[in-house]
Amino acid sequence: MSEYKESFDQIKIAGRLASNALDEITSYVEPGVLTEKLDKICYEYIRDHNGFSAPLFYRGFPKSCCTSANHIVCHGIPSKKYLNDGDILNIDVTAIVNGWHGDTSRMYFVGEPSIKSKNLVSTTYNAMMKAISIVKDGIYLGDIGETIQTYVEKKGFSVVRDFCGHGIGKIFHAPPNILHYGKKGEGLKLKAGMIFTIEPMINEGKYHVKLLNDGWTAVTKDKLLSAQFEHTVGVTKDGVEIFTKSIKNLDQPPYQI
Ligand code: MF3
Ligand code: CO
Ligand code: CO
Repeated sequence: MSEYKESFDQIKIAGRLASNALDEITSYVEPGVLTEKLDKICYEYIRDHNGFSAPLFYRGFPKSCCTSANHIVCHGIPSKKYLNDGDILNIDVTAIVNGWHGDTSRMYFVGEPSIKSKNLVSTTYNAMMKAISIVKDGIYLGDIGETIQTYVEKKGFSVVRDFCGHGIGKIFHAPPNILHYGKKGEGLKLKAGMIFTIEPMINEGKYHVKLLNDGWTAVTKDKLLSAQFEHTVGVTKDGVEIFTKSIKNLDQPPYQI
């Protein structure tokens, strides 16, 4: 039995609850719904399944998940704002179970998205999954960054620099930082047993972001769209384990026209 089996078993439980919460929210995402309502569903679902929502009261954050629509890059605060037909929305959920954190986010389409929205969202999902697919003992953090950056820039989009993935476990945000851009062979070498998130934020226009006055909401400077997906993963000897996969196959929205 590997030395890290126990931590993998624990984080699997928290990761599963976080992804189940995102599954649960899926059918409620539609035009006219308040993001506050989605937050309530998240809070109650996690509470009723033996967990707690990590964002609530985290460094003063007032809600149980982040809801980031359109040009919001991340850390949007659920509120009395309602969703509109054509919006793209990221919901980011982190569940704590037995002291362990599972952190995951997905994009949702509100009604019918534009072709450019579908393009941005599918590119962001593919970028995350390509990066996850190369993870194994012995690769470098820079390999992850390079994989995402190369793919995304080839599609004409940009990688946000101001936010990154992170180590995770009993602590929500632990070292190392997982940058979503970079060069092959640079940075820390991965070792089996490491657990972290990969959560690229990809912009339709330039990568620059600014923070709103609420101290949390990050938006694109050029007001163009931004998308994000996030999985919590663990490094194994010869590969990677994803702890936050949807058991209902709802990891990405449908892209059909
Ligand atoms: N879940 C976010 C992440 O991926 C962090 C949210 S912190 C909050 O790391 F306070 F904004 F909720
Ligand atoms: Co995270
Ligand atoms: Co998150």
